[in-house]
Parts: sequence; structure tokens; C-alpha cells
Amino acid sequence: MNINSLIATAQALVAPGKGLLAMDESTGTCNARFAALGIPETVEARRAYRELLVTTPGLGEGISGAILFDETIRQRTAVGVPFVEILQQAGIMPGIKVDVGAHELAGFPGEQVTEGLDDLRARLAEYAGLGARFAKWRAVLAIGTDRPSRACIEANAHALARYAALCQAAGLVPIVEPEVLLTGPHSLAQCAAVTEDVLHEVFAQLRTQGVALEGMLLKPSMVLAGNECPKQPTTSHVADATLASLLRTVPAAVPGVAFLSGGQSPEQATRHLAAMHERRGRLPWALTFSFGRALHQPALEAWGSQPANVAAAQQALLSRVASNRAAVGVGEAAAAHA
Ligand code: 13P
Repeated sequence: MNINSLIATAQALVAPGKGLLAMDESTGTCNARFAALGIPETVEARRAYRELLVTTPGLGEGISGAILFDETIRQRTAVGVPFVEILQQAGIMPGIKVDVGAHELAGFPGEQVTEGLDDLRARLAEYAGLGARFAKWRAVLAIGTDRPSRACIEANAHALARYAALCQAAGLVPIVEPEVLLTGPHSLAQCAAVTEDVLHEVFAQLRTQGVALEGMLLKPSMVLAGNECPKQPTTSHVADATLASLLRTVPAAVPGVAFLSGGQSPEQATRHLAAMHERRGRLPWALTFSFGRALHQPALEAWGSQPANVAAAQQALLSRVASNRAAVGVGEAAAAHA
């Protein structure tokens, strides 16, 4: 492990005014989003959509890294240029999702553990050879009565830590993503308590597995009330609750926190990020975005699989990038957050 190179990569990914583009939807998830808009669920449609994203002019001004999926890291533009090369030319680091998805946790009906450790060492070496500089692994934790269980929290935290250690050994910066799901009637306070339990365990396991905190990034969910909770918090409450939970659990040695959007609307995710950034004086880590849907769902809708709509779709993506750059204090005026 070359720790200095890991640190340099991690710091570059969270450089001021930059965030990450999560475009690593698995085939199933990508197809489901296509189906909802009547877009053909084909390899070619997925390739064309990902080409649209990576070739967006000026994307590198606000995007430091793009998280790819196994299918995508091997793909090329219509004229034969590898996506990885297009990203590198734009000053965007290619990254790769390396988990193979969340599966039922034996003995705990309704709970899931993320899998993908078995052949991970070999896959990481291959992805590094393909140009990946960092990786991502997502654990999912659902809130319910007595949920998540200790078993679920510990199994997911252990897997995240084993993944992170393997990444660093392979020279890739691990993005550690424990997502507490938005789905359900839970309150903001319940989400805060679960988020703290989860992050506390994740950092305990990272320590046990010897992961260098300086050479990793955390990709957490924001602390929110569930989408079926009748009492929705204000933007300030979300920002305060999220930062309180992170300050209690995330060591200062971690260079950056890059949030997922998790099913919030693009505007809402940006507003929450902006409110947290306004409070950044208290924070030891860089704070930015690593959004999927909140960055490129508007582009997907504008595209609708029509080649004539590519420029409009790229404009939609650039507009979300600009709003999120403004949220982290660079570029547009603060009024442009939404
Ligand atoms: P969302 O921002 O759409 O939640 O996606 C981020 C991500 O990387 C999920 O794994």
C-alpha cells in the first residue's frame, strides 16, 4: 500500500468545489429506471446513456470522480473511445462499484447484508488495471421495529471494513457507504440514533481491520425523517442532526464525507448539502456530494433515449452539478441552490 498516493487521491476527490457523480447503477437498477420512463432496457441504451453522461462538456469543473459499474468501465463511446479515457481527459477520476449487491441476511428476515468479498482481491486488481483509482461498496440498513438488528449492523460494518482494507492493499481509495434507508415512517430522531450506531460500528471495524482513515472517504446518508413520517423536519433540522451524528462518530482523520442522495428530490438534497456547508466552520472533514439520482435523474428524463435530446440532457446534468457546486460554496450565487 502506498499511503501517500491513497491520501492524495482521497483529497483530490473532495477538493474544494468538487463532488462525485455516482453512475454505478447495477443493470437491474438502471433497467428499472429506464422502464419507468419507457426507455428500452438494453445494453446499448445503457451504453448510450452513460456515454451522454461522461461526454458532458465541462463536467470536470465540478466533478472529481465518476463511480462506474462493471459493465460501464469496459464500455466505449459510439466512436470507440473507452469511457475511462474520456473521464481521464476531462480530469475526472474513474472509480468502480465493487459490491455485488445486498442479499437476505440469514436468520434475520427482512434485513440485508452486502456481498462481494469472495473474489474481491482479483477483481480489484483487474479494475486498477482498467484505470480505476477508487472503489465503492454500499451497505443498506432499513429502519423498523427493532431494526436494524445488531447482527445486521455488525455484518455490514465488518464487510465494509474488509472491503476497505482490500482496496487499500490494491492501491484504490475505498469509499465506505453505509446507507440508512429513507423508506418508512421513522422519525428524524430514530434515523439519527440508527445512523450513529451504524457509523460507530463501521469505524470500530475499520480500525480492527487496519484501514488507514486518511486514505478513505465516507459516503453516508443524511439524517432524515422517513418518507412516510407525517412530521417532516426543516432543512436546518436535517443539517444540524446530520452534522451532530457525524461529529459524534466520524474521526477527524477521514479526509472527506461525500453524501448520497438516497431518494430525496434533487433540489432537497442540494438544499440539505448547502445548509450543512454553511455550518462547515465546525467540521474537521471536507463535505461534498456523491449523488446518483439527485445529479442525473433530470438528465435521464430529458434524454428519454432520443439522440436529439442529448444536449438538453447534458445541460440538465450540468445544471445539477452547478447547483451542488454552489451548495459547497463555489461557482453560482447561493440563490441558485435549488
Ligand atoms: P443516490 O444518490 O441516488 O442515492 O445514489 C448514490 C449511490 O451511490 C447509491 O449507491
